[in-house]
Amino acid sequence: MIKIAPSILAADFSKLGEQVIELEKSGADMLHIDVMDGNFVPNISYGTPIVKSLRGLTEMVFDVHLMINEPSKYVEDFALAGADIITVHYEADRHIDRTINYIKSFNIKAGVALNPGTPVDVLKNIISNLDVVLIMSVNPGFGGQKYIKYCSDKIQEVKKLSEKLNKDLLIQVDGGITKDNIKEAVSMGANVIVAGSSVFKNGLIKENISELRGDL
Ligand code: DX5
Ligand code: ZN
Repeated sequence: MIKIAPSILAADFSKLGEQVIELEKSGADMLHIDVMDGNFVPNISYGTPIVKSLRGLTEMVFDVHLMINEPSKYVEDFALAGADIITVHYEADRHIDRTINYIKSFNIKAGVALNPGTPVDVLKNIISNLDVVLIMSVNPGFGGQKYIKYCSDKIQEVKKLSEKLNKDLLIQVDGGITKDNIKEAVSMGANVIVAGSSVFKNGLIKENISELRGDL
């Protein structure tokens, strides 16, 4: 079963709580929370207070995507705030193996994200210890960008590795997903679809989620 993980980066922040409740009612499987530090990526979003304040509103899985340098410094804060999954960038951490184990020490799931330009090969040694691999299909930092086509091949490479080394792996694709390319990402092996703009477009959350799911 393919999971849909709306990214709240594209939400209307003046009514974030209401929209999160609407997402849950509309069949969203996870809440994708994009954290940006203005350093690893050229944009600043939000941090633990948002996670903490939304935690009381919903039972949805909180999927926290840290686009920050030295993410291990903040893992504990996000775990205590209510994250169920913490995904860190391979490019942002000198000690990725240590950080994966550190995330897991809080009894939550650990993920590693790869920028479009980072080859899948870097996952070879760590994939069996991961719960999530996130393939960025845009350069991280902003919502509403265009899907980078070559990332489809990367999803397929992750899928092949996961068949050999980690059958339960969640394979996420993140960035530029629309009703027109979602099937391609799924056919390559993605089983969690992150989508911001195409979920919140025109404020029609329920309609947009059904349109994305289509006949997946
Ligand atoms: C980009 C973020 C994505 C993004 C997705 O840096 O990691 O989660 O918000 O938004 P769309 O679906 O609009 O590309
Ligand atoms: Zn993201």
